Amino acid sequence: MRHKSLTLAVLLLLASLILAACGSSPTAAPADTSSNDSASAPTTNSDAAPSNDSASAPSADGKMAILLPETKTARYESQDLPNFRNKLQELGFDVENNLIYLNANQDAANQQSQAEAALTNGAKILVLDPVDSDSASVIADMAKSQNVPVISYDRLTKGSDGVNYYISFDNEKVGQLQGQALFDALAGKENPTVVMINGSPTDNNASMFKQGAHSVLDGKVNIAKEYDTPDWSPDKAQDQMTQALTALSNQVDGVLAANDGTAGGSIAAMKAAGVNPLPPVTGQDAELAAIQRIILGEQYMTVYKAIKPEAEVAAELAYLLLTGAEVPADMINGSVNNGVIDVPSILLTPIVVTKDNIKDTVVADGFWTVEQICTAEYAQACTDAGLQ
Ligand code: BGC
Repeated sequence: MRHKSLTLAVLLLLASLILAACGSSPTAAPADTSSNDSASAPTTNSDAAPSNDSASAPSADGKMAILLPETKTARYESQDLPNFRNKLQELGFDVENNLIYLNANQDAANQQSQAEAALTNGAKILVLDPVDSDSASVIADMAKSQNVPVISYDRLTKGSDGVNYYISFDNEKVGQLQGQALFDALAGKENPTVVMINGSPTDNNASMFKQGAHSVLDGKVNIAKEYDTPDWSPDKAQDQMTQALTALSNQVDGVLAANDGTAGGSIAAMKAAGVNPLPPVTGQDAELAAIQRIILGEQYMTVYKAIKPEAEVAAELAYLLLTGAEVPADMINGSVNNGVIDVPSILLTPIVVTKDNIKDTVVADGFWTVEQICTAEYAQACTDAGLQ
């Protein structure tokens, strides 16, 4: 009897081994990326992020999570998420069953709970775009304690050695481009009055944008009012601009708005206050609404950050880490210190977009089509701008 049950146990074990061998390969441990020190100067071409030939990569069984910060800014659910998902799918990852997507809706505490939930649900990689660059260190520390690599996506996660990679744009450059474009648009004005509507005080990118813009504008223009915008909220930007207009009796020559959402809020405030003509206003993200405002002449410029390559390279990197494959050295083109470690980074190049180059940038890249931009309301302006 005893002998019989032993034989049965051996048979069962053999059967399960055979089944396992026939099934998909077990998930390999994530690569140890801590020793990556192949930092070199950032490239100047946004196409620089290499596309990785995944044909020979092993299959990935485990789950991964992407944690995005908010939904009020259009890019996250209209660009970042779909491009990330599509790339993963193309690589053979089971997006339907194994990708955990969570959005914190601008709430840092919520993001921490979401990260905990993702780890509990078996995420083996975290792609994290932090609401709060500082407090998100808790998330990266927690991931590290469970051997889960963290890719800090678009915004830097500071204060933790649990951040394995950082993928973003040259964010100080973004601010410099905004500042320079505004300064150029104000040429001929003596000591022009500028209002600065910066981004969220908890977002490391926002301080980089601000720093970049100040490096160009300080000493050259009169920055009469300056605000940080909690949560990057367009509504709060509108309130701040309304306050500035009241204080300055509507005498504003230019607005440095940190992104298209805050630009939209600022423009709405100026229209409501009867400012006419509108002064030059900057932006960032090349949101459809901003491109349409640029066509109409309501917004002067935006900064186009090619989000597709950003999201795709994040997907490629996450997939490599999940499968335990080696990260090619030429995938990394920089290194950014997060206060604790130098984080191997992939940095892409931002591009200025004004009415003159919409066609050669966002349209040429397929970021927006002429049909999407030039709806009935914008038809005449589009024709005037040579878009159709
Ligand atoms: C991103 C911008 C975005 C802003 C608000 C920043 O960290 O880089 O593209 O507009 O957050 O979400």
